[in-house]
Amino acid sequence: MTDPTLTKHDPRWTDVDTYTVSHLHSSPTAIPPPSTLAATLAHQQASGLPDIAVSPSQGKYLQLTARATRSRHILEVGTLGGYSTLWLASSHPDARITSVEISADNAAVARANLERAGVSDRVDVVVGAGVEVLPRLADEVKRGVREKFQFVFIDADKENNWNYVDVALGMCEAGAVVIVDNVVRGGHLADASTQDSMVLGARRVVENIGRDDRLDGCVLQVVGEKSYDGFLMAVVR
Ligand code: DHB
Ligand code: MG
Repeated sequence: MTDPTLTKHDPRWTDVDTYTVSHLHSSPTAIPPPSTLAATLAHQQASGLPDIAVSPSQGKYLQLTARATRSRHILEVGTLGGYSTLWLASSHPDARITSVEISADNAAVARANLERAGVSDRVDVVVGAGVEVLPRLADEVKRGVREKFQFVFIDADKENNWNYVDVALGMCEAGAVVIVDNVVRGGHLADASTQDSMVLGARRVVENIGRDDRLDGCVLQVVGEKSYDGFLMAVVR
């Protein structure tokens, strides 16, 4: 989250990310290698994509969660330049990612990044709007021609957060983990009078998961180099 109007950025948030990343992400056997992650971000920036990918700590959190849940079939909604996709693909050598991206230009950047990283044989970047692609994937799961997912990461247009969760539920195994990015929005999540469509999309997914017996969820507020935002995490019953 990069919008400086949302909240004043405390420099300690970045300092702690810098400190912890320097100790926890720099092993000689780190996967993906820091140089590959840097090349991904550099290509994304040189291609004019917005600087809204997850932070290194958030990316590794996604990777470790996918690994801890032994997820082998992972769905991502919102590929951007493939930075979070690369973290997820690196959760296990057999992990397969289906990542949905509305922009063909962004998808081309992501594919180049995933190719350079050596994971493109396990990642399928599908170009199209999530609201059109996800029902198609759900139909494939229903017909038995696509495996169910164990992990879903939603980081696309915030207005459709709930629609993505709702459709994803039809193609998740019991026990699957669903993570939705950017629900806290500098604390505006708690503003019941908000007119911001992104915050409204975050409130809708929180409230709908709260009354949906198919899911059990919580929100983790996060500060860091990307300022103040957070993940919604839910487990499919
Ligand atoms: C913003 C941040 C994100 O991580 C994202 O996925 C979309 C938007 C933002 O700060 O505006
Ligand atoms: Mg995001």
